[in-house]
Amino acid sequence: MNHKTNMTLAVFGLGHVGLPTALGFADLGWNVIGVDSDRSKVESLTKGHVPFFEDGVDSLLKKHLKSDKFVVSSDSNWAVNQADILFICVATPEYKDGSADISQIENLAYQLRDSIKSYKIVIQKSTTPVNTAEKIRIILSQPKENEEVQSADKFVDVVVIPEFLREGKAIEDFFNPQRIVVGLDDMSLKETIINLYMPLFQKIGKEEQDLMIFTDTRSAEISKNAANSFLATKLSFINMVSDLCLKVGANIDSVSRSIGADPRIGTDFLKAGIGYGGECLPKDLNSFIDSGKTNGVNFSILEEVQKVNDNRVTVYLSQIKDTLPNLKDMSFAVWGLAFKPNTDEIRNSPAINIINKLIEEYAKLRLYDPLAMPVFKNQIGTSELISFASDPIDAAVDSNGVLILTDWPQFKEQDLSKLFQVMKTPIIFDGRNMLDRDFVTESGFEYYGLGI
Ligand SMILES: NC(=O)c1ccc[n+]([C@@H]2O[C@H](COP(=O)([O-])OP(=O)(O)OC[C@H]3O[C@@H](n4cnc5c(N)ncnc54)[C@H](O)[C@@H]3O)[C@@H](O)[C@H]2O)c1
Repeated sequence: MNHKTNMTLAVFGLGHVGLPTALGFADLGWNVIGVDSDRSKVESLTKGHVPFFEDGVDSLLKKHLKSDKFVVSSDSNWAVNQADILFICVATPEYKDGSADISQIENLAYQLRDSIKSYKIVIQKSTTPVNTAEKIRIILSQPKENEEVQSADKFVDVVVIPEFLREGKAIEDFFNPQRIVVGLDDMSLKETIINLYMPLFQKIGKEEQDLMIFTDTRSAEISKNAANSFLATKLSFINMVSDLCLKVGANIDSVSRSIGADPRIGTDFLKAGIGYGGECLPKDLNSFIDSGKTNGVNFSILEEVQKVNDNRVTVYLSQIKDTLPNLKDMSFAVWGLAFKPNTDEIRNSPAINIINKLIEEYAKLRLYDPLAMPVFKNQIGTSELISFASDPIDAAVDSNGVLILTDWPQFKEQDLSKLFQVMKTPIIFDGRNMLDRDFVTESGFEYYGLGI
């Protein structure tokens, strides 16, 4: 493919990854067609409504529907034939045994194969187990039914560019990537991929060599799963150490600061608490464990990472029960539902696990989250034990304890004297170790963190 300045991109799957990616490239000047098989999503996006929360996506969507740089469609055949480059951004959930379910990718690959009439580059952005790109390449190069041989000009190249964006910071991360890993099995594609990202490099004043890591497709696939498994390992490691701190009366925050000051370790992902969640970390870890098993490599270290994380909810709940043994009819303010701040994502959120366990014990819960309450009502529903509050203090009225389950910065800014006045018993169970223990106890509260 010659260097083009007017390439058309088609992005398949307009979820948390596909939509920010599509809008990011549209903002860089490419013509982008976004395709989703969910017609209600296409309808909503066409009207300028984003069906999930992601900072900055809403305004970029409105901007580029207007600029005509971005169009949304459910007609994948049309999109394939308009575009030079096709992005795969569909979901890769997990099966019950932890292995990755790549059926959405395979189905899309058959769909693309049947529509492709001329040479295309297919970029796999979805997170996949190693060797998926090769499976996709095989599907795409098979002749379709009633066609005996694939004609040479219909051949496709498959490139893996795994997505490292953080949910809640997707747009920020698109425009300020720490690295762009590009897996290619044919190095002649390098120039086209550099050309695709050139407007980004020009916008942020970087060179291709500052950001791009070229490798083969398998290494690119492994890089994504390895990155998330490593982050999960850091978290479980610090959570394990925090259990020791809890037992012996040491302070995990001091330990984290002390070890994180070593640049070989670093401070990120060293905050002890109720554990990681969300759509990516748990499933990518499971998928990587499965890749180890499938290829006969001992990944037991990652099985332990998972066990430590699974046990966080138990550690937190035992702390509550040690303080308030009979949970029946106790009332708690729940601060935070999302798996992390700045998102309404509650899939695999430890908060949801904790809420379910407390409901099993008939505790009454008044919930507050700045973004995730509508999603909670929609996905989990409600019960007579649950009510929803308008703000953190409202959630705490007449409660026996405040449970901090997501580290939204605004929870730090609450007026503690007001909080003290409205609570029945002023106890805080800080599942994210986000408040200052001394300040909170000086304000009259009983305070429990995890290892601080
Ligand atoms: N969510 C994240 O923060 C994140 C970060 C990095 C990587 N990833 C990876 O990116 C991939 C996508 O994740 P997501 O969170 O965006 O998923 P998502 O569920 O939010 O979105 C996937 C979209 O694909 C659509 N879709 C499914 N089949 C389709 C088809 N044949 N044609 C067109 N559209 C189709 C679905 O309707 C849905 O809108 C996954 O592999 C995930 O692991 C996610």
